[in-house]
Amino acid sequence: MRIDILTLFPGMFRGPFDESIIKRAIDAGIVSMHIHDVRNWAKGRHKVADDYVYGGGPGMVLKPEPVFAATEAVLDLAPERGPVVLLTPSGRRLDHELTLDLAREKRLVLVCGHYEGVDARVHEHLATHEVSIGDYVLSGGELPAMVLVDAVVRHLPGALGSPDSAVDESFTEGLLEGPPYTRPQEFRGWEVPEVLLSGNHQEVARWRRRRNLLWTAQRRPDLLAAASLTEEEREWLASNGLAPRGGGG
Ligand code: ADE
Repeated sequence: MRIDILTLFPGMFRGPFDESIIKRAIDAGIVSMHIHDVRNWAKGRHKVADDYVYGGGPGMVLKPEPVFAATEAVLDLAPERGPVVLLTPSGRRLDHELTLDLAREKRLVLVCGHYEGVDARVHEHLATHEVSIGDYVLSGGELPAMVLVDAVVRHLPGALGSPDSAVDESFTEGLLEGPPYTRPQEFRGWEVPEVLLSGNHQEVARWRRRRNLLWTAQRRPDLLAAASLTEEEREWLASNGLAPRGGGG
């Protein structure tokens, strides 16, 4: 996958993409990352990329010309086509499904908004997708772009050490994944559950599934309502006083 990011603050991306899984994926050629400074496409001696709000109002708005020019030029840098994603608090909320959809693309162009917003014509005529990472306002789209890249790159084949890692994790079955145990077997009197030491894979899998159900029921009952549970699992939850909302029984 090729990812192009358009930003007024290219320096913000230096640290996060130089570490951990994203760096490994870049080094392994699984993803290539290209950061572009939108100001390079701004006109005039001062390369002004923002302007006042028509009709009045606080703050500065990213101008359409440099954003369109940058995006069109960047699209032409490679033959692959893919969505142009504007990071904005008014976008579709990023979730597991959307990260999977985006991971199927050959290419992503991410446009980071800044200041009080981006000219409406970018929303209407340039972005093919508008994505938010949550119902709160950040000072720009850079951190959201990093979040999106991290969540998408994990899905790319070979990006994680073990091919199972991305499949087992939280949300894959619509459930949270409870946290793992590692050594020592006893820590401050808290023991690792016996079944995990048993070597019985079937028992371990059953215990994990039930623990995930319990974990989700206690923390995110809204997710349980949409997860597909067996009748036995529903009964087991109900017997623990944790019936899924709208669940049968
Ligand atoms: N830009 C500012 N806030 C944002 C958010 N919550 N999600 C995506 N982009 C943003």
